[in-house]
Amino acid sequence: MVALDVSRIAKRYGPVQAVDSISFQVHAGEVVGLLGPNGAGKSTTLRLIAGLVHPDAGTVRLAGHDVQRGRQAALAAAGFLIESPALPGELTASGALAWVAWLGGEPVQAARQREVLAQVGLAEVAQRRVRQLSFGMKQRLAIAAALLGRPSLLVLDEPLNGLDPPGVRDMGTLLRELAQGGTALLVSSHLLDEVERTASRVLVMARGRLVAEEPVDAAHTGVLRELFFSVTQPGGP
Ligand SMILES: Nc1ncnc2c1ncn2[C@@H]1O[C@H](COP(=O)(O)OP(=O)(O)O)[C@@H](O)[C@H]1O
Ligand SMILES: [Mg+2]
Repeated sequence: MVALDVSRIAKRYGPVQAVDSISFQVHAGEVVGLLGPNGAGKSTTLRLIAGLVHPDAGTVRLAGHDVQRGRQAALAAAGFLIESPALPGELTASGALAWVAWLGGEPVQAARQREVLAQVGLAEVAQRRVRQLSFGMKQRLAIAAALLGRPSLLVLDEPLNGLDPPGVRDMGTLLRELAQGGTALLVSSHLLDEVERTASRVLVMARGRLVAEEPVDAAHTGVLRELFFSVTQPGGP
C-alpha cells in the first residue's frame, strides 16, 4: 500500500530553492531514510508533507488524500514528529498523552494510552513526570503521541539527533518494530550511520533535489558512502 505519495513538490524561500520538484513514495512496512547534509531541504520536505508549509507546486497524498485539498483526512492518516517535542513537563507521561488527544479533539482513552506507551517501551514510566524523563524517553513519548490515532504513516524529523548510542539503538529497534507492524515510516537524518542502521531504503537529498535512492543492504553500503561523501563536499551535486 502506498502510504505517502509525493509528486513534484517544490518550495522556494527568497533566493533559496529549498525543495526543487521532488517525487517519491513510501509504502506500508518500510522505513525510508531521508538523508542529506544540513540545508539539503529535508525539514522543508517533511513540513510540506505535514501541510505546515504550502508548496509552490506539486502534491502530497497521505493514504490517498491530498494534504492541500483533503487536509483533515490526509492528516488523520499520519503521525508527525517534526518540531522538537514540547510536551508539558509537569504532566505525567500518561497525562501528556491525554493532553495531546484532547488538543487533537480526540476522545481520551486510557486503554489506548497504555497501549502506545507499551509500544514505545515506556509502560513502566507512565506515571513519571515528563520533565523527569531522559531525552530519549521524551522522544519516544512524542512518538507514542503520534501513534495515538493509529496512523498508517509516521514522519519523523531527525528522531535520532541528540540520542546517546543506546538511545539510537532503542529508537532504531522501535522504528523497525513499527514498520513490521505495517506502519510506513519516513525518517530524516544528516548522519549516514544512523540511517544505515535503521532504514530499509534511503533517499539522498542535496540542495533541494533527490540525488539518489538506494536500498540499505550490504551490497549498497559502498555506494551509499560514496554518494553521501560527494553530497557533503562543497561543490557536490
Ligand atoms: N522558513 C524559512 N525561511 C527561509 N529559509 C528557509 C526556511 N526554512 C528553510 N529555509 C532554507 O531552506 C533550505 C533547506 O532547509 P531545511 O529544509 O531546513 O534543510 P535540512 O532540514 O535538510 O537541514 C536552507 O537553505 C534553509 O536555510
Ligand atoms: Mg532539518
